[in-house]
Amino acid sequence: MKTDCVVVGVFEGRDMTAAAKAIDRAAKGHLAGILKHGDLEGKLGTTLLLHGVPGTSAERVLLVGLGKADELGPKQYREAVGAAVRALADGGAADAVIYLAEVRVKDQDRSWALFHGAAAAADATYRFHRLKSKKNNRKGLSKIALGLTGKPTAADANAVKRGAALGAGQGLAKDLGNLPSNICTPSYLAKQAQALARTHKLKCQVLVQKDMEKLAMGALLAVTKGSREPAKLIVLEYHGAGKTHKPVVLVGKGITFDTGGISLKPSAEMDEMKYDMSGAGSVLGTIAAAAQMQLPVNVIGVIPTCENMPGGNAIKPGDIVTSMSGQTVEILNTDAEGRLVLCDALTYSERFEPDAVIDIATLTGACVIALGGVATGLYSNDNQLAQDLLAAGQSAWDRAWHMPLWDDYQEQIKSPFADIANIGGRPAGSITAACFLSRFAKKFKWAHLDIAGTAWRGGKEKGSTGRPVPLLTQFLMARADKR
Ligand code: BES
Ligand code: MN
Ligand code: ZN
Repeated sequence: MKTDCVVVGVFEGRDMTAAAKAIDRAAKGHLAGILKHGDLEGKLGTTLLLHGVPGTSAERVLLVGLGKADELGPKQYREAVGAAVRALADGGAADAVIYLAEVRVKDQDRSWALFHGAAAAADATYRFHRLKSKKNNRKGLSKIALGLTGKPTAADANAVKRGAALGAGQGLAKDLGNLPSNICTPSYLAKQAQALARTHKLKCQVLVQKDMEKLAMGALLAVTKGSREPAKLIVLEYHGAGKTHKPVVLVGKGITFDTGGISLKPSAEMDEMKYDMSGAGSVLGTIAAAAQMQLPVNVIGVIPTCENMPGGNAIKPGDIVTSMSGQTVEILNTDAEGRLVLCDALTYSERFEPDAVIDIATLTGACVIALGGVATGLYSNDNQLAQDLLAAGQSAWDRAWHMPLWDDYQEQIKSPFADIANIGGRPAGSITAACFLSRFAKKFKWAHLDIAGTAWRGGKEKGSTGRPVPLLTQFLMARADKR
């Protein structure tokens, strides 16, 4: 293939993949010679860029280490693709062909490798510099192809298309997460949903304060009280299947900034609370991916979005409000606002007669303590739904971990004055938050994803991860394929 760069793999022990061997044959042992000199051992994620390899039409050959052949699983494969793309991203190649889809990945087939190759490449090429004043004029990598030695089948092409669609959806979620709260406001999220609706011919409805008042969404409205930015309830519908198929409703927490309200957060790292709309971002990203894949499923996104601010009119600890469900809530801590906006959105979701409702939220710091940035916390009132989500997360390499929702924990959110309190103390903080939500999810199969630890990365490489768009998209793909 004519390209600026061909990417092939080398296992630990300097063992070449079939594609690497093919190049080596054309180059009359050139690669084998280089490997013998010890420049690349084949350790996972290491790379070596070669110019002027004889016998090839490509300008460059990039060797990427795959680690031990018998240890090559999903994680290693995705890491190798990512390492290759990162090595190319800042180099001189404008396009590249990656020949890794035919290596044997444990328990996976070629379709999986193509799907994940495309998705992992998109994940690794993502950059967010639209808010830098100096524009980068270097051309850089603009196109990545996945190469096969034989002729691609229709299934191969479909797998790549789906991987690219997932990459785009995840990229949208990252963009929304990375945008600061002075740009990414509730109104901005509503505009994004409307733009998606235009692009993919979806139905979009944006409810404003008055509508929410009519619906008696007392919990959601309580959170927005201290803010000057108007709250919205976004409803975005993708109908890829017939009317007889009940929809999956995705409810995304859309707090565009969480100061904590009157229960103000400490200032250190408070900037990270711009990611508190990541649940909302993942709903928009997932619907975008599903629509681009034209999956035969029905999905409805419901996004309660507002800011959580202190202010003269803000809710105060001890205030009691009536949620849309009629249940009263004693707001003991105004920083536990996510569950307040979500509970009314869950009640609102009943009208869609859903097959299942999944809410996605950066809900608790306690979940970060429990699972870190590795796994999303999964709670559900339906075991089959939980298993399907766990399996989707495993397959997409965007893993979740099943947490308990036992009645014993409900004790912690009792209130002497109202039906429930909005906090349950420090022990099991992620679980009691889920318990709170469960009170509003009795009428349907429901799952809750606490993504406080997985939606973004802190530290030097800080930024949105776009999780759990891969898990959710895979969940919808599996539903579509079952039919
Ligand atoms: N948005 C936060 C949760 C969060 C914390 C996300 C850290 C990401 C990183 C949420 O609204 C919150 O403030 N939760 C409180 C609940 C507490 C007051 C019961 C928390 O986790 O501290
Ligand atoms: Mn909060
Ligand atoms: Zn929050």
